[in-house]
Amino acid sequence: MEEYGLDIYRAVLTDRGMSVPPLAVDRGGARIDDLARLEGVGAALLTPAHQFPTGAALSTERRTEVVNWARSTGGIILEDDYDGEFRYDRKPVGALQGMEPEHVVYLGTASKSLAPALRLGWVVVPPRLLPAVTAAKGRVETVSVLDQLTLAEFLTSGTFDRHVRGRRQNYRRRRDQLLESVAQHAPNTRVAGIAAGLQAVLELPRGTETRTLAAAAHHGLDVSGLSEFRHPAAGSGTSHRDGLVVNFSAVSDSAWPGALASLCAALP
Ligand SMILES: Cc1ncc(COP(=O)(O)O)c(C=O)c1O
Repeated sequence: MEEYGLDIYRAVLTDRGMSVPPLAVDRGGARIDDLARLEGVGAALLTPAHQFPTGAALSTERRTEVVNWARSTGGIILEDDYDGEFRYDRKPVGALQGMEPEHVVYLGTASKSLAPALRLGWVVVPPRLLPAVTAAKGRVETVSVLDQLTLAEFLTSGTFDRHVRGRRQNYRRRRDQLLESVAQHAPNTRVAGIAAGLQAVLELPRGTETRTLAAAAHHGLDVSGLSEFRHPAAGSGTSHRDGLVVNFSAVSDSAWPGALASLCAALP
């Protein structure tokens, strides 16, 4: 797994006895050359379109590299496309799954486009893995059929598309306001990872994360430190960055300007 990511997903794997070494992440996404150097790796869980939480997109060269790794080793790529609906700056990045459907498991979710409370997601599985995946899932329906049918209707009627387009505009506006405000009020902070998605990373001067988090909490803000997402075995040096992970979607329109002002006041 990438050296920055969600610990709850890492725990799903480690709880089953798997060893999950970290893969370094830089501005080009996960370091696929490191993956090729690791011995005995059967699968890689990646966020290629928008690395979570640092926000990098996996570079074109590394996309090819990781697909070649899977082909040559028989390894599996788990492609976590958790926020693919919200891309702002460029044309949508294609899925790795489209490049190599035999070796890529594509994971999607309604958590960002609709709501995390729905607990709706989907998996596109290489045909040879389908029996094992359905067996592991079991025969009990885990997601409400009514919710599934409602989502299907939402998709086929075009309403989902309209909803996503509307949210995308709103989130892009907020993202641009975040960029402007931070540039104006907190020149020591750099905003990164904003080409897509609902979260941005505010890169802080070294050694200031803990006190910035405390200042943000003091202003009533619920933001996370980059260190919360760091793999416990992540390398030293550049891996240990200071930053805030700011979700700019989970605030109402009326509360947003005040939240933004508070955030800027909390930055060094
Ligand atoms: C990296 C990443 N993957 C996947 C998800 C979606 O998870 P779920 O579908 O369990 O809500 C999230 C949600 O925050 C995420 O940040």
